[in-house]
Amino acid sequence: MQKSLEMVKLPHFVSVENLPVATVKALIQRATYFQQGGNVPVWSKPIYAANLFFENSTRTHCSFEMAERKLGLTVIPFDPAASSVKKGETLYDTLLSLNSIGIDLAVIRHSQNGYYRNLINLPASSQLNIGIVNGGDGSGQHPSQSLLDMLTIYQQFGHFNDLKIAIVGDLTNSRVARSNMQLLTRLGAKVYFSGPEYWYDQQEFSQFGQYLPIDQLIGRMDVMMLLRVQHERHAEESQFDAQSYHQKYGLTKSRYQQMKDKAIIMHPGPINRGVEIDSELVEAPKSRFAQQMKNGVFMRMAMLEAVINGRHLGGR
Ligand code: CP
Repeated sequence: MQKSLEMVKLPHFVSVENLPVATVKALIQRATYFQQGGNVPVWSKPIYAANLFFENSTRTHCSFEMAERKLGLTVIPFDPAASSVKKGETLYDTLLSLNSIGIDLAVIRHSQNGYYRNLINLPASSQLNIGIVNGGDGSGQHPSQSLLDMLTIYQQFGHFNDLKIAIVGDLTNSRVARSNMQLLTRLGAKVYFSGPEYWYDQQEFSQFGQYLPIDQLIGRMDVMMLLRVQHERHAEESQFDAQSYHQKYGLTKSRYQQMKDKAIIMHPGPINRGVEIDSELVEAPKSRFAQQMKNGVFMRMAMLEAVINGRHLGGR
């Protein structure tokens, strides 16, 4: 990935489903440039962004805001709980209002899968003209997490071809699993799945990778990508036993010892310590948890810049 790749231009950034490999490589290169202290673009006019998080978030919300500030954007605060959404205003009308006030870009996290579809496929009569960046939709897509994960894997191995990557845990509810299985297979990695077998839907997941119990994977994988058990999305929560889950499906200290020398552990966060991973392994030498969060700022700068370019904001 030495030669300079083309500038990415997108009107919105909502999914990795149809993202070409060349675009992923260009974004990795651009994020790396920002990470290494490269100059941010000089915009010909102010660009305004708002972050609309209808689901809880620490990493994605703060990381996007940090990326926006590093890029020199003006961030207009938006708190759903104190907004007119509470009076019944629709998401479309909320965005029409923010856009009319002068906001150019909206980063949105929402519990509804595909909430963005009617915001980017607008009828000719619509006056809405705002760039949408998806900060995670239900169990659908999490493009910024997926791309920061690609950057983290690329930093470790320098390529994706034939890497063996296990995605482990709450597959059913995971937008991270869905985004990453799509992107990793397109990039040439070999994906495996593990965790409770009832969270592995054969029909959906088998086209991307095989299911195997964790003890059959642990010694062979280059990346152990652990997923948070999303307690808030489980109806039958009373049946969940954290200790039993950890022993059967989690990264225990004994499983850590069986990992390949150069293998790494990833987790999108937030972590349930002692469930997906032993608490003492969160900052172990093979863990890239903190690195993922560091990378997120620079990848989100690259993603925001792509939408700024795609919408010809800031004179580019
Ligand atoms: N990884 C992730 O999306 O974390 P947050 O929910 O804290 O944003």
